[in-house]
Amino acid sequence: MYKNIEKQDPKLFGLIQKEEERQRDGLELIPSENIVSKAVLEAMGSSLTNKYSEGFPGARYYGGNEIIDKIENLARERAKKLFGVPYVNVQPYSGSPANLSVYIATCEKGDKIMGQHLFDGGHLTHGWKSSITAKFFNAVQYHVGEDGRIDLEEVERMAMEEKPKLIWVGATAYPKEFPFKEFGEIADKVGAYLVADIAHIAGLIVGGVHVSPVPYVDIITTTTHKTLRGPRAGMTMVTEKGLKKDPDLPKKLDSAIMPGSQGGPHNHTIAAMAVAFDEASKPEFKEYAKQIVKNAHALAERLKENGIELVGNGTENHLILAKCGKGKGALAEIVLDEAGLTVNKNTIPQEPASPFFPSGIRLGTPSITTRGMKEREMEKIGDVIVEAFEIFKDLELPDGKGSEKREFLKNFREEIKGNEKVLELRKKILKLAKDFPIPDFFV
Ligand SMILES: Cc1ncc(COP(=O)(O)O)c(C=O)c1O
Repeated sequence: MYKNIEKQDPKLFGLIQKEEERQRDGLELIPSENIVSKAVLEAMGSSLTNKYSEGFPGARYYGGNEIIDKIENLARERAKKLFGVPYVNVQPYSGSPANLSVYIATCEKGDKIMGQHLFDGGHLTHGWKSSITAKFFNAVQYHVGEDGRIDLEEVERMAMEEKPKLIWVGATAYPKEFPFKEFGEIADKVGAYLVADIAHIAGLIVGGVHVSPVPYVDIITTTTHKTLRGPRAGMTMVTEKGLKKDPDLPKKLDSAIMPGSQGGPHNHTIAAMAVAFDEASKPEFKEYAKQIVKNAHALAERLKENGIELVGNGTENHLILAKCGKGKGALAEIVLDEAGLTVNKNTIPQEPASPFFPSGIRLGTPSITTRGMKEREMEKIGDVIVEAFEIFKDLELPDGKGSEKREFLKNFREEIKGNEKVLELRKKILKLAKDFPIPDFFV
């Protein structure tokens, strides 16, 4: 691969090589990341990127789209079958544009919308104050309770009082199963559109290890690059329930994408989606999804046994939120990064610090499960995390301004680079990475 880049652009080639080395020699624990097959990569690198095709199959604004129409229809049909829905739009460039298209299709500027609070795991596009979705719409946010589960009493109370036009169920850092049925009942009571954002758990739903929202919600949005293991893209779907509520939803969602918010679709990515949907329809994918959840459970148990506190006291999906001490998520991220484990710092419910210097880290198993790892390896990874926590446990971030904290973290990273303990952990992770190389083919 990359023969032509090497010849034509050695500087970029060197950088791609370095990133490939990083991915090969380390383990990716960011729950929203995965490793795609070579077939998905080939589709993304194909000449389909050359073609403009604004519009939809059979109704384009450009000529020469007969074959592109077939490719987009193939992706749509495969997605419909995979999720069991009557309508799919595969053109959103990613998860955020997919969500934006839902607002355009269902709301007017200023309408009330409801989503999960960012600190409690919700996504920016579900009405967080710094997102355009809270600037154009009137957003109210619900929370999780002490047990880490969505507080359904609050959801119902808020829905009855606020009468939102649209309710989101779905999140970016939530280790529990989503109560789609209960949300469906609440949305029905207040006549709101209910949208499930399954960006994180799409692969688990397809694999049968998470309840499907299809019977309970009107619209579904997703990314295709997380547990679903496809290219970086988004998708919207309408369920039978949604069609009954509003038969024009497919038309509205199509025009919310084009001309509402996007131009030409990324045909190379849509082709790669078709490849990934085919892969996800195979029995091996079900096994994969099952193993993701088993691995997350095994990792969570290992951490707990060794005194690390988890939000919700564990996980029911692919994702774990570990508490690191007030404001110490960044310390954990840095030590683990140096040890070869990539994680991201994250807020926790009732965050005692701030979103910039939060108190947790988010861990996930989709990528390491793609490499073939099982429960035994989770124990080894868990042990490395426990030892890494020991390294920063007695440190505190300075109380002062953000710039002082950033300086402290910069120095901390430099200091631990040569730390013997960290080097020892790095060796263990490198051995695991070598024993479980990145695979070429999954099916
Ligand atoms: C629940 C959820 N929705 C939407 C998105 C947005 O996806 P993207 O980053 O592709 O725009 C994410 C990404 O993290 C997510 O977790």
